[in-house]
Amino acid sequence: MVAWDDSGALFSDLSAQLRAAGFDEQSAAGLLGAANPDRLIRYGALHALGTSGQVPALIGTPHGMLTQLFVRNGDVPLAEYRRVLSPALGELLETLALVSVRDDTVFPAVSITPYSNQHFLADMRFTCPSARGHKPVMHAREDFVPPPHATSCAILQNVKPRSGRLLDIGTGCGIIGVSLAGHYTATAGIDIEPRAYQFATANAHLNGRDMEVHTADFHGDLQSYGTWDHAVFNAPGPFRLHDKSPDVDPMTAEGVLHSAVDSFLGLLAPSGVVDILVAIAVPKAASGPAEVVDGWLRGHKEVGGIQITEVGDPMLAVPASAIQKGKLPPGSLLANNKEDIDYLMGYFTRTGIREVTTVIVSLSSRP
Ligand SMILES: C[S@@+](CC[C@H](N)C(=O)[O-])C[C@H]1O[C@@H](n2cnc3c(N)ncnc32)[C@H](O)[C@@H]1O
Repeated sequence: MVAWDDSGALFSDLSAQLRAAGFDEQSAAGLLGAANPDRLIRYGALHALGTSGQVPALIGTPHGMLTQLFVRNGDVPLAEYRRVLSPALGELLETLALVSVRDDTVFPAVSITPYSNQHFLADMRFTCPSARGHKPVMHAREDFVPPPHATSCAILQNVKPRSGRLLDIGTGCGIIGVSLAGHYTATAGIDIEPRAYQFATANAHLNGRDMEVHTADFHGDLQSYGTWDHAVFNAPGPFRLHDKSPDVDPMTAEGVLHSAVDSFLGLLAPSGVVDILVAIAVPKAASGPAEVVDGWLRGHKEVGGIQITEVGDPMLAVPASAIQKGKLPPGSLLANNKEDIDYLMGYFTRTGIREVTTVIVSLSSRP
């Protein structure tokens, strides 16, 4: 095994080998029965569950073997691994510690998400152990570096690339910065989680992009990293409900936007823009998310302008009809267990929320 930090050339080699094996988003979606790559990113565990009986057939081809290892995150027999993958690719995966071998079985150590003609290493949200019938078992570690999510795709599909210098705040595995880097003269990512540094740096190498990565808290002093023409933030928290205190808005969008004004606007060059993805709970009395955001940020003199773009993704929204019925739409990505769903629906009713919509809030600095 080699340290990832010194492995830029090996990651370039890996990119070529993954492509040569035919491992891309279309092939993975097709093999796992997803209508398109976006659906595979959203409902990966469901597609893994739906294909648990197909593993012996899946691992018969190089792209199927890679899909089983890094998208289903399942183990494979060593003999098949050696037979199906090219020796160069098999050795590279072991050298970079992307797999481990125990008792004639190969286990994935990371997920690899093919997305938009790129590949992204990250932690595994779930694994599909053969010992458990190849069915998904969910994982959560304290220092989890998330693989690309529906919200990452929503940003990439709705944020307009600009020019100059880009800062990816809360970069995680680096998907936003790496995907957009080609439009900018310089790109950097920051994340509070030191393991994110490892993944985002590796993914920059893997996808042939220049991106500096720093381990830093966005509440801290980020001035030393310079000024930026554009910053993007896929905010943590809006879709998590750890804090169930009745005093705390579980959507936390207001807190995120205040942090953005306090911490990010000062990092922007004049007329720079920070784009932030948040879910907004719209009260019955408000006309829409723009009025809610205006109310929160009114009085912040440093905001030069506010623009709201609705992402229009039904799975990242709760329509008024669903709140009236007290039922989250099936497949919603805003909560993922019954306890959270019940809490959320109760909260909406109790606090007079009409609907929830996910938006990109674009804040510009003064000219
Ligand atoms: C929703 S994830 C987004 C990851 C990635 N940008 C994406 O779009 O898939 C939010 C990221 O923010 C990071 N984060 C959370 N709090 C932070 C803080 N105070 N400072 C910097 N990063 C933070 C988390 O570690 C996590 O990687």
